[in-house]
Amino acid sequence: MATVLGALTSSHVPSIGGAIAKGLQQDAYWKPFFDGFPPVHAWLAKAKPDVAVIFYNDHGLNFFLDNLPTFAVGAASDYRNADEGWGIPTVKPFKGDAALSWHLIESLVADEFDIATCQEMLVDHAATLPMALLWPGGGDWPVRIVPIAMNHVQHPLPTLSRCLKLGQAVGRALDAWNEDARVLVMGTGGLSHQLDGKRAGFINKPFDLMCMEAIVGEPERLARLSVHDLVREAGAQGTELMTWIAARGALTGSVSVVHQNYHIPISNTAGATMLLDNRAASLPQARAA
Ligand SMILES: [Fe+2]
Repeated sequence: MATVLGALTSSHVPSIGGAIAKGLQQDAYWKPFFDGFPPVHAWLAKAKPDVAVIFYNDHGLNFFLDNLPTFAVGAASDYRNADEGWGIPTVKPFKGDAALSWHLIESLVADEFDIATCQEMLVDHAATLPMALLWPGGGDWPVRIVPIAMNHVQHPLPTLSRCLKLGQAVGRALDAWNEDARVLVMGTGGLSHQLDGKRAGFINKPFDLMCMEAIVGEPERLARLSVHDLVREAGAQGTELMTWIAARGALTGSVSVVHQNYHIPISNTAGATMLLDNRAASLPQARAA
């Protein structure tokens, strides 16, 4: 039976890849952001996930504006990264988990999510950089992945409510998967940032901190925001918060914060990391402890 261990949410700006490539983790500009990850590494060493289900948004590597599904689930046996033009090194290919992918796809379609399925899929920095932050060093990846791409690029975007329901449907499917697997769910992007227009450089710390608090125990509160609310409060690219909401939705147990970090700015973005533990609600307390 699959066990959903928890959720890791993180910013994914491309310049993180540049900082990793140049070894700038202890640089004064980057250190407050990278310092958010050693506690995550310690948790991973104990939790030992073997699969990562990644909610992220593609930025034009696999999908472009002429062909952009609202939700797309990877169903490949492996996933490659490729040059996106940011000047950051590509990462090693990831092993997929096609059996889990098809289980999720069948369950989501049965739940009336009309998703795209991708038996070939390139994964961009939004998937690769959080993975590199979790498992630094450039060695072989210790987990298989199932990428779930969400449209946060071209309007109309999915509603926040729909993203939460997508995550909840994924969570139910994971709970029902009849295979031994230790699953980490990931949501990548944000937090508040706007890269273009009159509000370029916009960051909203009070809103971000509210989201980081609400997402733990009140994700429905965030799901009630409209897309326009989210753009106004978090910036045009702050819509990536939707990946966090989907990841939170996939946790069906008792959720608590293991670790969190918030730092402004990294590359005109509010850099944030959260690690949520998902204690199975059905386990007796003593056994769970
Ligand atoms: Fe992004």
